[in-house]
Amino acid sequence: MQDVLQFIEANKARYLDELTELIAIPSVSTNPENVPDIRRCAEWMKAHLTRIGMEKAQIFPTAGHPIVYAEWLGAPGKPTILLYGHYDVQPVDPVALWTTPPFKATIRNGNLYARGTADDKGQVFIHLKSIEAFMKKSGALPINIKVLIEGEEEIGSEHLDPFVRSHKELLKADLVLISDTSMFARGVPSVCYGLRGLSYMEIEVIGPNKDLHSGSYGGSVHNPIQALAEIIAELHDKNGRITIPGFYDDVRTLTKKEKDAFKKLPWSDAKYAKELGVLALYGEKGYTTLERLWARPTLECNGIWGGFTEEGAKTVLPSTASAKISMRLVPDQKADTIAALFLKHVKKLAPRTVTVKARYVHGGEAAITPIESPGVQAAVKALEKGFGKKPLYQREGGSIPIVVQFKKILGLDTVLLGFGLPDENAHAPDEFLNLDNFYGGIRTAAHFYNELPAFMKRGKR
Ligand code: BES
Ligand code: ZN
Repeated sequence: MQDVLQFIEANKARYLDELTELIAIPSVSTNPENVPDIRRCAEWMKAHLTRIGMEKAQIFPTAGHPIVYAEWLGAPGKPTILLYGHYDVQPVDPVALWTTPPFKATIRNGNLYARGTADDKGQVFIHLKSIEAFMKKSGALPINIKVLIEGEEEIGSEHLDPFVRSHKELLKADLVLISDTSMFARGVPSVCYGLRGLSYMEIEVIGPNKDLHSGSYGGSVHNPIQALAEIIAELHDKNGRITIPGFYDDVRTLTKKEKDAFKKLPWSDAKYAKELGVLALYGEKGYTTLERLWARPTLECNGIWGGFTEEGAKTVLPSTASAKISMRLVPDQKADTIAALFLKHVKKLAPRTVTVKARYVHGGEAAITPIESPGVQAAVKALEKGFGKKPLYQREGGSIPIVVQFKKILGLDTVLLGFGLPDENAHAPDEFLNLDNFYGGIRTAAHFYNELPAFMKRGKR
């Protein structure tokens, strides 16, 4: 292990150069124009996996973006992990708000800035460098590793689900390991044991058959933007609760034990509000902020458009208006059920003056990993060694839809060993990965591989 840690220390500069190369590929999964970049990124991953000593590196084409797989199974009798991550990234708009170009990795005040540094290329790369260090120093890994890197996580993992179903034997393992979450705070490592699920919806409101002069026609027809705003406003009550009938039916209530554990975390509402620049926090009444973020379902408007939005003034009564709405889900809500309840409710709210079309875009369920599982305990030990500090336990408000499918299809629990930070600007301008977390992450990953066999053995006894 000493050799491995020394190798990591000695190669820090090279790691940055290589990651900069990976970051430079604009693998935005939602943008059809980036399809060639997505392909190039998958090829980069495959080549790099081979270079660091992984075997059978290959690209599986799908009806969407390709899946990259590689394995090293040279440790018979030792545990096998399925290391999952994603090479796709979110769009970079609004580009003007980036301090430096989004695909040019740039270091400022101890952080590496660029799209994908934290979510998730940088975090995948952490593992590749950890694997490489073992391979270079001893020609072997302490465990068996199967690497699965997809290109559609940011758009709902549509084609990964059928791939997992049809490759159960290939993906057979003892647990799933994912680094695609954040630590609790700077200098406060944590293990994440819960993610929220998601139902993503779109609403389109159609009024007159063409855009109208807002003077000549205003007052005669229901403006689609107004109708849409009325529908959206109806979705919450004055206590911040979602009004969709049945929405809360399957919500698992927090145990007293977990509530108490949340309360013990080093958290300040005032500090959080200040950091975000909001005048006051807002959310469902009767719950703390961490409860609302991690263990309560929400409904958010992600985007809304219609009519004239350019600079200046144009008097127009638009023909249509639209919105994209996401609902974050908690155990035991079902994404399809919630989507159906939403569609039913929106239909009921639709005024008879306009046509309202709503559709379910994609979804996935919430996931919880038992804290006492050997994988989580190995992660705790690894973080302690990698960062020199005992980690906290936390949940997350974000989603990784495939996690639940790994459990359902492969029977595997997932260990969420994240090295991002809560203020890393994921999905926003100036995304960054903290460099201490980057190097600490590589060390921690190495410790995790090294510690896992002992924890698995203990778990079996
Ligand atoms: N890395 C995130 C998941 C995440 C977000 C973990 C926040 C912890 C905190 C992941 O890449 C992501 O953004 N997922 C999407 C999934 C969706 C598009 C289905 C999300 O949560 O919005
Ligand atoms: Zn991610």
